[in-house]
Amino acid sequence: MIAAVSSNGTRVGITGIGAYVPDRVLTNADLEEMVATSDEWIVERTGIRERRIAEPSEAASDLALPAARDALEQAQIRGEDLDYIVVATATPDMLFPATSCVVADALGAERAAAYDLLAGCSGFLYALAQAYGAVSSGLAERTLVVGSEVLSKITNWKDRGTCILFGDGAGAAVVERVDEGGFEGFELGADGSRGPDLCVPAGGSRLPSTTENLEREAQFIHMNGREVFRFATRVMVSSAQELLDASGLTLDDVDLYVPHQANQRIIDHAAKEIGLARDKIVLNIDRYGNTSSASIPLALVEAERDGRLADGDTVLMSAVGAGFTWGSALLTWSNGGSRSR
Ligand code: ACO
Repeated sequence: MIAAVSSNGTRVGITGIGAYVPDRVLTNADLEEMVATSDEWIVERTGIRERRIAEPSEAASDLALPAARDALEQAQIRGEDLDYIVVATATPDMLFPATSCVVADALGAERAAAYDLLAGCSGFLYALAQAYGAVSSGLAERTLVVGSEVLSKITNWKDRGTCILFGDGAGAAVVERVDEGGFEGFELGADGSRGPDLCVPAGGSRLPSTTENLEREAQFIHMNGREVFRFATRVMVSSAQELLDASGLTLDDVDLYVPHQANQRIIDHAAKEIGLARDKIVLNIDRYGNTSSASIPLALVEAERDGRLADGDTVLMSAVGAGFTWGSALLTWSNGGSRSR
């Protein structure tokens, strides 16, 4: 699906961003004590050196809230000004109520519609597209999009094939009308036939959380790493290229590439195929691992804090994740001073 945006003249962009990661650091050396692996193997195959792990008492909303507050502060709005909140997460506080409702309550967003979105690691880009649609259609004015994950709670810490990859974190963005810049386009898609290659089998209505299913460890992430790798390297490239073509832009127009931080090798492959220079790529997978729907906003916030984003820059974001889902977004950065109020 390709959405041609800004066709009605309304410009919608990001006016504030924020991020949060838990304090606790789990290094590759720590993992060497837990499973048969090595720092060398993990760094070579994934690029990951350490990741953040939430406290046992911390849930997705606890990570989402500080990230959301940062984003609201930068956008210079209050929780009560929000009319639409979407939290992308594969690790909600509980099945229901939605984590977004918990977040809305804590922010004092009494007027906001609030719901969760499940699109795996592509969740943040799906949520941005929905917020864009809500604002540009007039359904909402001030929206908050959050990606928040506590993947450590659904990771099998005895499975060396998966436990080396994931980390916890959250990122948030305020999406509203802007005078200049904003979203140029989205490309989103899904291939449900690939679902079994990356799934959490139990905890839903197919395999409820019975003692029997828990004993089979079906409540944890199950992954066919090679298949995920193959699919991800292909679709990260095709999605970005389709979006650039549909938007009438070329690689030269892209100032910053913010890919989902799944695996350094997937990112390197995608950037090479697309033809992007390394200095245009935002990378922080070495410090956070794969934080699923939080990874793109975490990387975006780092890029902004590091002074790598200026008004007028064209930002390309791409992700692939469980479903399989995928998505890309093109954004002309207009954060700071160009909000339309
Ligand atoms: N430490 C040491 N050895 C390991 C480890 C480990 N942590 N894990 C697997 N191995 C071994 C395997 O057992 C195998 O040994 P064998 O040859 O004796 O059987 C060998 O290493 C090679 O295993 P592969 O699975 O072929 O390793 P591969 O090079 O494919 O790397 C990896 C595995 C890193 C998981 C890779 O497939 C990958 O990154 N896939 C993408 C997964 C991903 O990104 N998932 C994130 C969720 S989805 C998303 O965000 C897009």
